[in-house]
Amino acid sequence: MPDLEVTRADDAALDRFLDETSEARLESYKALLRIPSISGIPAHAADCRAAAEFVASDMRTIGMENVDVSETAGHPVVYADWLHAAGKPTVLVYCHYDVQPVDPLDLWESPPFVPVVKDGQMLARGASDCKCHISMHARAIEALMKTRGALPVNLKVVIEGEEESSSIHLDAWLEANKDRLTADFAVISDTGFFEGNLPAITVGLRGIVFIQLDVTGSNIDLHSGGYGGAVDNPINALCQIVAALKGPDGRVLVPGFYDDVAELTAHDREALARLPFNEKEYQESIGVPALHGEPGYTTLERLGARPTLDACGIWGGFEGEGPKTIIPAHAHAKISCRLVANQDPEKIFALLARHIDAVAPKSVRYSIQRLGDGKPSLTPIDGPTTQAAARALQATFGAEPLFVREGGSVPVCASFESILGLSTILLGFAPPNGRFHAPNEWMSMANYETGIRTIARYWDEVARLESF
Ligand code: BES
Ligand code: MN
Repeated sequence: MPDLEVTRADDAALDRFLDETSEARLESYKALLRIPSISGIPAHAADCRAAAEFVASDMRTIGMENVDVSETAGHPVVYADWLHAAGKPTVLVYCHYDVQPVDPLDLWESPPFVPVVKDGQMLARGASDCKCHISMHARAIEALMKTRGALPVNLKVVIEGEEESSSIHLDAWLEANKDRLTADFAVISDTGFFEGNLPAITVGLRGIVFIQLDVTGSNIDLHSGGYGGAVDNPINALCQIVAALKGPDGRVLVPGFYDDVAELTAHDREALARLPFNEKEYQESIGVPALHGEPGYTTLERLGARPTLDACGIWGGFEGEGPKTIIPAHAHAKISCRLVANQDPEKIFALLARHIDAVAPKSVRYSIQRLGDGKPSLTPIDGPTTQAAARALQATFGAEPLFVREGGSVPVCASFESILGLSTILLGFAPPNGRFHAPNEWMSMANYETGIRTIARYWDEVARLESF
């Protein structure tokens, strides 16, 4: 049983410290949000480095040691540790400092890198995905250090800068840094709460295969009257290919795509069905006229336990104002597949490439660029580290957390297991409707504030664990 007396006394000092430092905390969170660290756009490489330096400097200030802005073949990784809790567990903490692109810019209420707090929401690119978590972990560490002079557990912090670009260089970095990354388990903070902002622990993440498809025809745009009818049109051809990838019912048409999918057990289905999910509210909140997906599965099953395929962008030809009658020389699409256990990104990519080849008209040329991939992951609900997180959430948010499967991907989760041999728990605080990757991304300041206390509380819970 936890020593409640000690916990309560400690919490009071910690709460007092946090109450007294809320202004400074807000300022430093905003300062991180002002850095436009978009990992996928090469012109922002210096901003990514600036974000890494900012995080490293913060880590030094709060008493973390061996702080290192560590090079990769891409954007740097920030490493820091504090290893003076003798005989206590060692935890690897992961977040990412990079963010997604910001367009369409005109839909932002205020500029994406000018953070503002309005109605309890921090509005900025990266506010919830995932700079809030970097800030929350740092502030929890700071509060513990200031009030107790020490942390209850040993921490190794890894903040990477390419998660939004499929963590392309992180596996090599993990391999090269294996020795300093030994730990009892890992905590990834890059997820969020359930619909209705109910406290939740994510226990499943989907994997991803992401490609760009480029279709080319003539060597230059052609007059659509002068040549129309005699040559194929790359945009039409691209649309034929995209249309052949998924049926109108939402089933992916790539042969073999579903072969390795782990079917939901009756128990899994019951657990998902028990979640307090209001399908109508969900539909209304995103503004679609109807929900749509693979037959035979509920919305939560489709999101958390079924794979899918979507075009994320499509372009080509003349997009300016007024008429311009051409047969464009080329057309393009970005396409992502979300994968579930036990699908393998390599195999799915090969199947997808083969299918595209089979359906692509011979009257155009095409090429496929691989933009990244990530494996799916499932983490155990009953494990002591997850149960400890559930206790910490219950104690701070006053509600028993739900265990949910997330449709998004965090590729490093599978890499921690395969490269470092670490089990992972996903402890994140983003609101479910936080508009990640979209205009007007926001973070709930209530989740942010309470989440800092949850993290501090979690380290106390972990300090008492004897197995992981
Ligand atoms: N934080 C997200 C993953 C996520 C999304 C968690 C929604 C909870 C709810 C993460 O930063 C992310 O967006 N990952 C990318 C990975 C991809 C680029 C390989 C994703 O899922 O698109
Ligand atoms: Mn993201």
